[in-house]
Amino acid sequence: MAITIRDMTGGERSAPFVGDDPFALTRTWLAEAAKTEPNDPNAMQIATVDADGLPNVRTVLLKEIETDGFVFYTNYQSAKGQEIEATGQGAFVIHWKSLRRQVRARGLIERVSAEQSDAYFQSRDIGSRIGAHASEQSRPLDSRGSLAAKVAALTLKLGTKPRRPEHWGGYRLRPIEMEFWADGAFRLHDRFRWVLKNEAKVWQISRLNP
Ligand SMILES: Cc1cc2nc3c(=O)[nH]c(=O)nc-3n(C[C@H](O)[C@H](O)[C@H](O)COP(=O)(O)O)c2cc1C
Repeated sequence: MAITIRDMTGGERSAPFVGDDPFALTRTWLAEAAKTEPNDPNAMQIATVDADGLPNVRTVLLKEIETDGFVFYTNYQSAKGQEIEATGQGAFVIHWKSLRRQVRARGLIERVSAEQSDAYFQSRDIGSRIGAHASEQSRPLDSRGSLAAKVAALTLKLGTKPRRPEHWGGYRLRPIEMEFWADGAFRLHDRFRWVLKNEAKVWQISRLNP
């Protein structure tokens, strides 16, 4: 679906906020951060809420930026997996200290297709694939030794081409709102917000107070 841009900023957006497409802008900032961040420029903090509405947050790696969504991979039975399955929504923030910039997004979260998860799973190194089979992420673990024993047993059992376990795969966050933030002198930072309007047909862009 074609999305119209309604820019309410009076043409005030200049570098590094150039461009109307928030997915392309995130890609551009991530590429810049990849040159300056010491580790994991694609690390993002993803927030969900539990059944009582209590927020939860943790880091995951942003693996794909699509034309309308952001994809990460995890265990579907983990705490975050259960919270996403129950609510279908979440939010993330990425802060690049080296750039002094931040991107935020909130919206709906859905599973990516089984084919997409299979393709990404097969691209991972063999240790990570076995690890995804072995880890009952977020549930209690008796000891490091029992996990190591499980990994060893699964390495023998699954061989060199393990299939993706059903409990592991990708989620896509489709934002309904995004914000791009860049550091300014005396805490007078620049902030621009993209909000989906008119049944997701229009991205409306506004400047926000710092
Ligand atoms: C830099 C970094 C990257 C991480 N990437 C992932 C990831 O891509 N997927 C994942 O499931 N957990 C990842 N983790 C671990 C999570 O932060 C978290 O411990 C785990 O997913 C369990 O979270 P939950 O119990 O809230 O579901 C990462 C942690 C760090 C610090």
